[in-house]
Amino acid sequence: MHDAIRISADINGTAYLLDVEPTAGLLEVLRDQVGLTGAKSCCTEGECGACTVHLDGVPVMSCLVLAPEIDGHAVTTVEGLSGAGLSDLQEEFLNQGAVQCGFCIPGQVMAADALLATNPDPSQQEIRNAMSGNLCRCGGYQRIAAAVRATAARRRSL
Ligand code: FES
Ligand code: FES
Repeated sequence: MHDAIRISADINGTAYLLDVEPTAGLLEVLRDQVGLTGAKSCCTEGECGACTVHLDGVPVMSCLVLAPEIDGHAVTTVEGLSGAGLSDLQEEFLNQGAVQCGFCIPGQVMAADALLATNPDPSQQEIRNAMSGNLCRCGGYQRIAAAVRATAARRRSL
């Protein structure tokens, strides 16, 4: 057991002071210490994307990030995307039937949200490339891509 390190971070818009082990992973701190269980623990070695969150707006696999690395930074989890209700992107995941067992969906949504933030009109290939690290064991890739395209179209029509 190492001495805990105190870190400060913005998580979903709230300032946190957290005492973490130097070797603690961000995923376990989010889930077990902060109580945000949207990011899922699956492979824990960067292979599936179920744990995707944003670190300063950039999608990262939280199972590969050490908790001390977020000191002074901003983390957004899937819980931070929805305010009073679901985000437009989350609604389109439902509208397009992209949610099957649901396990991969928080990571898929975070990857898609980051893509749309930098590319408001992604092509099918760009969606595939941006989300290639997010696996869906239910094989819902077509519907997930459709949800991303529908969200992009919806935003462009505003
Ligand atoms: S749990 Fe992090 S990539 Fe699979
Ligand atoms: S919806 Fe089941 S793993 Fe993707």
